[in-house]
Amino acid sequence: MGSDGRILINPSILNANFDDLENEISKVSAVSDAIHLDIMDNKFVPNFTFDFKRAIEIIEFSKLPIDAHLMIEDPDTIAPKYAQSGCKSVSFHFEAAKNCRQTIADIKSNGAKVGIAIKPATPLSAIEEFIDEIDMLVVMTVEPGFGGQTFMSDQMLKVSQARSKINSSKGEPVILQVDGGISLSTIAEAALAGANCFVAGSAVYKDANPAQIVTKLRELAKNSFNI
Ligand code: DX5
Ligand code: ZN
Repeated sequence: MGSDGRILINPSILNANFDDLENEISKVSAVSDAIHLDIMDNKFVPNFTFDFKRAIEIIEFSKLPIDAHLMIEDPDTIAPKYAQSGCKSVSFHFEAAKNCRQTIADIKSNGAKVGIAIKPATPLSAIEEFIDEIDMLVVMTVEPGFGGQTFMSDQMLKVSQARSKINSSKGEPVILQVDGGISLSTIAEAALAGANCFVAGSAVYKDANPAQIVTKLRELAKNSFNI
């Protein structure tokens, strides 16, 4: 099972009320493992969310650790700054990095866990060489850029391949995160494929009771998780 055998649920605030984020985060703080903070620069993806200054404010008022997901053009330069700012983990996109190995090292040396994210079109083989150096692998189950998209079931083969790769690698097990379209009706499929960390944005924040959704997501994932 994942890093400590637990299922991790990281709500994304991408579809939360940006004008009331402190309260939005506190709605799920008691039942979630981290807050997934999507940073979009309107270059790597056709959307913008937060600049670094605003991200720091969110990191500071969040009662939960921050799982930063950088959908930006220059992670090699920027990612270490997010690590330094107190994020628990910083995930960058393989497709945007110029030097993955150096960026992995720089995130770690600045005090954060490190994740590599891959887009749906990117095969697992692209990042296999880094699997023993990272703390988390993020398999995108939507095209990055927006919340509320449809879960891409065709990514489950990649998830199960990643799960067997992680299980046969040495050292601390890598967390296997799926990000995009995770809901009460899709999480079981992702857990069955071997994911143990789940990002859910619209499924959580479009509901009147976000905390209850997180709790239900956790139950569904626990019942379906397959090593
Ligand atoms: C999309 C982001 C996801 C998104 C998930 O580019 O990386 O984290 O916020 O939102 P839902 O759960 O609505 O797909
Ligand atoms: Zn994300």
